[in-house]
Amino acid sequence: MIQIKDLSLTFAGGRTIFSGLNWQIDTGGRAGLVGPNGIGKTTLMRTLVGQIQPDSGEVILSPASATVGYLPQDLAELPDVTLMQYLKDKAGITAAEALLKTRQEQLAAASPDESERALRLHEEAAAEYERLGGWSFEAMSKKALRGLGFHEGDDQKPCREFSGGWKMRITLAGLLLSHPDILLLDEPTNHLDTESMEWLENWLSDYRGTLVAISHDRIFMDKIMKSIAELHSGGIRVYKGNFSDYLRASEEQKAQREQAAARQQAEIAKTKEFIERFRYKATKAAQVQSRIKVLEKTEIIQTEANAKHMALRFPPCPQSGHIVLTLENVSKAYGAHQVFSGVSAQIERGQKIALVGVNGAGKSTLSRIISGREESDTGTRELGYHVLPVFFSQESSENLNYANTVWQEINPLNQDMTEAEKRTLLGSFLFSGDDIYKPVSVLSGGEKSRLSLAKILMNPSNFLILDEPTNHLDMVTRELFQQALLAYDGTLLIVSHDRFFLNQLAGRVWEIRDGKLHDYAGNYSRFIELRERERAAENTQSTAKQQTGRSADRDKKREEAQRRQEIYRRKKSYVEELARVESTVTDREAEKSEIEKQLCLPEVLADSSRVQALMKRLSETTAEIEQNTARWEELMEIIDKIEKGEL
Ligand SMILES: Nc1ncnc2c1ncn2[C@@H]1O[C@H](COP(=O)(O)OP(=O)(O)OP(=O)(O)O)[C@@H](O)[C@H]1O
Ligand SMILES: [Mg+2]
Repeated sequence: MIQIKDLSLTFAGGRTIFSGLNWQIDTGGRAGLVGPNGIGKTTLMRTLVGQIQPDSGEVILSPASATVGYLPQDLAELPDVTLMQYLKDKAGITAAEALLKTRQEQLAAASPDESERALRLHEEAAAEYERLGGWSFEAMSKKALRGLGFHEGDDQKPCREFSGGWKMRITLAGLLLSHPDILLLDEPTNHLDTESMEWLENWLSDYRGTLVAISHDRIFMDKIMKSIAELHSGGIRVYKGNFSDYLRASEEQKAQREQAAARQQAEIAKTKEFIERFRYKATKAAQVQSRIKVLEKTEIIQTEANAKHMALRFPPCPQSGHIVLTLENVSKAYGAHQVFSGVSAQIERGQKIALVGVNGAGKSTLSRIISGREESDTGTRELGYHVLPVFFSQESSENLNYANTVWQEINPLNQDMTEAEKRTLLGSFLFSGDDIYKPVSVLSGGEKSRLSLAKILMNPSNFLILDEPTNHLDMVTRELFQQALLAYDGTLLIVSHDRFFLNQLAGRVWEIRDGKLHDYAGNYSRFIELRERERAAENTQSTAKQQTGRSADRDKKREEAQRRQEIYRRKKSYVEELARVESTVTDREAEKSEIEKQLCLPEVLADSSRVQALMKRLSETTAEIEQNTARWEELMEIIDKIEKGEL
């Protein structure tokens, strides 16, 4: 059982996270912890495991000997051992095994007098090893690793070779396999795909201990939880039942709160009016004073209506060429593991593409290559004209420098924006007042995502590459972000597990499957439908058909490559001219602003012949800029048409 009594905590900056919080989770309970980003869910969990000391109040675990497993939201580093070794160490198997071995040796070496004692000690060690499941541990671990999407043989790889998302799965596997009495999970589903998520859900349904999990994932919460605790500013509300029950009950309570808040507002208005009216009447002084006190003490009822939400709208994009990206025969391997190969594809302006695939298929790897963060082993990745890509990595540590403050992350970007504009932008992402001086390292998961999104908006871009951008966002923020993406007028490639959302958003689906990229036109439902049809066809297809299918496929690929070659050849001279025109415009613009600057200088203004010469040059430069800009537009149009096959 976990008992939280009268917990209060205020951070150094003066922000109160809890005041007098009470909560009890019975043994074997399954409690979901929810609430908006930055409200204090992670902080509460860290207080439960003793990583944060509260200002007052206490946390009591009973029995006191209960073992606790904690999965942090942000990644902890893993020791420098192989994956299997890590799991064995975590579960206490390594130690138990070593003890058993020692006891075996002692038993073998024992004299007849000692043998009884040695035998007893050996039996104890064997019993402990058995209790921990030592004999079947490797088999159990491999099963769990498979469930979490690891490949055959991964258990012998060193932990440090895995990427961030996989390290988090290793940590999760380590926790589950050590069977703690109390399991605390902070957003465990963030780095899992649908299949691993289902595996985890099954595992947790069989788990006998006490579980507390934070999650914004409705399906996960619905399947597992028996009660939901909602954190709100300063306090907690506990609801019996699963997540859907909670939503229903909280809706009702919300309506009631709104009524109460309206009543309260009316009351406050009345009191204020009284104070105003009788403020200067000596006879009423005492009553006025007491009402002022009442007013000061009144705690304003918080409602949805007065809660703040992130405001996000993508500004119109600077236009790019018709072809945004060309991948030609791209491949990537990590060591002996070939992630994908022969990836050739093109993205056109305005397309919204969902990139899907099972665990470890290489979605993040491909998006990193597309964004330019990572090199492919073979092949080329080429961006089109005026394509300004921006990348949101699944790992927040790649989007943000944890050593900076919020302001230090934002301020150096985009010199065309004033400080006031930057502050306003931060404000609409809910970083206001002193929040902007917080170190990035203490931000909550959702706050880090919000800051990464704010950074994306700082510079003009027209090609968003987003790797699981909604993971840490709470439900309201997620919804707002999705609305903003629907209205986005640039080109988008997004990795996401949110099927409902992908269905609304994407008009094309890329699936990485068996090391190849499969391209499907249409939305996500259409993709599922086509996949099912393909699977059925694959089952009935004869070998002969497969052969012809393959060679037809090859022909198609060859044609496609030829077509791209031809386009490249035809637009080459225009592209070269475009570059020349562009640099002329840049040069002339620099010259123009220099002339304008000179024309403000008193010593220049005093010399009329110089003024005249400068004026002449100014009008020539302006004309050149105009001509070149017009040519630039023409060239862009020509290139566009060639790319579309219209010229
Ligand atoms: N050491 C610290 N100093 C100052 N502020 C902190 C510190 N640690 C956390 N905070 C702030 O406390 C608030 C609560 O953070 P916490 O990580 O508990 O939120 P959360 O509910 O888990 O949010 P999310 O859903 O985004 O993960 C946030 O505003 C965070 O910036
Ligand atoms: Mg958190």
